[in-house]
Formats: sequence, structure tokens, C-alpha cells
Amino acid sequence: MNEPFATPITETSRADAPMTADIVDSDHDIEGSLRPKSLADFVGQPKVREQLELVLTGAKQRGTAPDHILLSGPPGLGKTSLSMIIASEMGTSLRLTSGPALERAGDLAAMLSNLVEGDVLFIDEIHRISRPAEEMLYLAMEDFRVDVVVGKGPGATSIPLEVAPFTLVGATTRSGALTGPLRDRFGFTGHMEFYEPDELQYILMRSARILGVQIHHDAATEIARRSRGTPRIANRLLRRVRDYADVRADGVVTLAVAQAALLVYDVDDLGLDRLDRAVLQALVKSFNGGPVGAATLAVAVGEEPATVEEVCEPFLVRAGMLARTPRGRIATAAAWQHLGLVPPADTVANGITVRERSTQSLDGHDEFEHG
Ligand SMILES: Nc1ncnc2c1ncn2[C@@H]1O[C@H](COP(=O)(O)OP(=O)(O)O)[C@@H](O)[C@H]1O
Ligand SMILES: [Mg+2]
Repeated sequence: MNEPFATPITETSRADAPMTADIVDSDHDIEGSLRPKSLADFVGQPKVREQLELVLTGAKQRGTAPDHILLSGPPGLGKTSLSMIIASEMGTSLRLTSGPALERAGDLAAMLSNLVEGDVLFIDEIHRISRPAEEMLYLAMEDFRVDVVVGKGPGATSIPLEVAPFTLVGATTRSGALTGPLRDRFGFTGHMEFYEPDELQYILMRSARILGVQIHHDAATEIARRSRGTPRIANRLLRRVRDYADVRADGVVTLAVAQAALLVYDVDDLGLDRLDRAVLQALVKSFNGGPVGAATLAVAVGEEPATVEEVCEPFLVRAGMLARTPRGRIATAAAWQHLGLVPPADTVANGITVRERSTQSLDGHDEFEHG
């Protein structure tokens, strides 16, 4: 799994490599079994669901493949699940690949020429697609054909190949990183939002039912509240809490069991994990609340800038603890308070001055549609 773990693996468990690998593997299978299988099963995202329902029903009525669809939002909000649902609602099959896997345009050409009419081609992390593959994709999306270049140098010829009418579903954690021409070729963009606690609670109760976990209502409320608005994290916390209940209690997840387990896994009262807190701590302690550039901040916590920007920051912004300004990242008063510190006198409640606020949304839009 390359998506970050909400509840960090501790050094001791990491040292135990085979064991950890086993756990991650079986967790992966479980994630599949917890995936919602139809639009009706898919909880939350009322806006995207309604829009998508119209797109799909319209296409069905006309008997055509739906327009190309882009799903954007932070990891774990249901983009992959939705793409599978799109294929199953249309009664067609899904071909899965990802931007980083399409390094050579030839790989994409092979994929495209194998498509059958109506297929859904899912490209995960589409913002990481290589330039040549992206250019091939333009033509495929618009005209359902590709030009395959055969040979090298002056003798090279380009052979046009037909592609069956298909629907491209792209997923991205950074729609701002997509080039304009690629973004323009999608007929619909679904912006995935963080989930509300009651939606996560519903997802948790469903997952508990599927996994055969006995869980009290108030325990589910607690886990939902501390899941960073993210179903993948909610399901993951449920599995860790279940471990705790099985090992240290009688298997029933009560509120006390859930709280004790979340303490063990370093999930704090607001659901922030180790990395979230490291980012806030660096911002507040090393940079005195900012502003500090995103790359500098990432170096300070020893993480990839992309992880900090795409995984940590969207939730910290949404939780009102971090603000993105043209001059860099700023800690809000809430961030200082969350770390048990007193904010400096000039920290505005939400961390941004009026002048900065006027440009803040622009900056946020530049990098993230969810800023
Ligand atoms: N709307 C939802 N309802 C129920 N479960 C969900 C929902 N969205 C996501 N999940 C759960 O979260 C997990 C991660 O979702 P996924 O589609 O892989 O997210 P993404 O592709 O956006 O990272 C899924 O396996 C599923 O169990
Ligand atoms: Mg995914």
C-alpha cells in the first residue's frame, strides 16, 4: 500500500517485517470486501452522487458511453470505489491502471486498443501520467483513436488505430496539477468532500456488520469523530480497535475500549495522527507559526512534499488549524491551542489577516480545488 497509514505503524511492529506484511495484506483484502458495490450502497457525497446519477442515467437513456469523468479529492474518500460503481451501474467492465504505470505511451496504446465498446478505463493518480501518454490520451478521449509511431528517425511512420468508444474515469488527489488541456477533456468533474461524522458512523456500522464486529453505538460515534472525515481511515481504525477489543478485552467494542485503543495508536482527540501533529508542531515550534513554504515544512517533518500537501494539509485546513497563504503555510490560533500552547498575540483566530484572506482562495485553488 502506498497510501499512508492513518494510525502509524510503530517502530516495534515495523521491525517485525513478515508479520507486518501479513497484516497489511489481509487488511487489503478486507478493504475490498468493505467497498460499496452500488450507488445506493455509497454513503455520503450527496452532491457528487446526484450529479453522477444524472450523467449515468442520461447516457443509459441515449444508449451511449457516458462522458469522461474526473474524480478529485484527498485519499480514501471513495474515488476508486466510485469508479467501480460507475462500471457496474453501466453494466460494463472496468480496466484499471494508474498514471505512474503509464510511463511509456506504448503501454497506454496497448491498453486503449484492447478496450471493448462501453468499457470504463480507470486511471488512478492521473496527474502523474507522463507527457507522451497524456498527449496520446487527448486524441483517444476526443476522437477515439490513437496514433502509434512505428520506427525511429526519418523512417518513422505514424499508424492511426481506432479505439472503441469508452469512458475514461480519472482519479486525482491534485486536480490543480492536471494540465488544462487534459482537464478540459473531462465532461464532468466530481469533487469529493470530507465526510460528516454521522456518515462515517453509518459506514462504520455497515463495516462492523460485514466484519462481524460487535460495536456499541457510542463507540462508533467516537471512531467516526476521529477518522479525519475519511472512510478509509474509519475502516482502518475499526480494524485496529477490533484488535484491541479481541486481545485486551472481551471482543466487544465499547466506548472505553475504542478510546483506549485509539490512545495506543496515537490518534488524538480530533483524529490527528502522528504526521498531522508533526506538521503542526514544526509549523508552530520551528517556524513560530509561519508563514513557511510547503517544501520547507515537508523537509522539517521528513516527509515527501506531496504527502504533506495531499494527505495532511487538506484535513488541517478543513479543521481550521492551518491556512495556505501566498507567503506560505500559517498556523491558526486553533493549532497552537491544540498543541497546548498559547498563540502569539498577533495570531488571528483563523490565522490569516484580511489582506491575505483576499488572495487565499486563489492560492488554494491554484494547488487544490479543496483548499
Ligand atoms: N461512500 C462510501 N461508503 C462506504 N465506504 C466507503 C465510501 N467511500 C470509501 N469507502 C471505504 O473506504 C475505502 C477507500 O475508498 P477508495 O475508493 O479506495 O478511496 P480513494 O480511491 O478515494 O482513495 C473503501 O475500501 C471503502 O471501504
Ligand atoms: Mg484509490
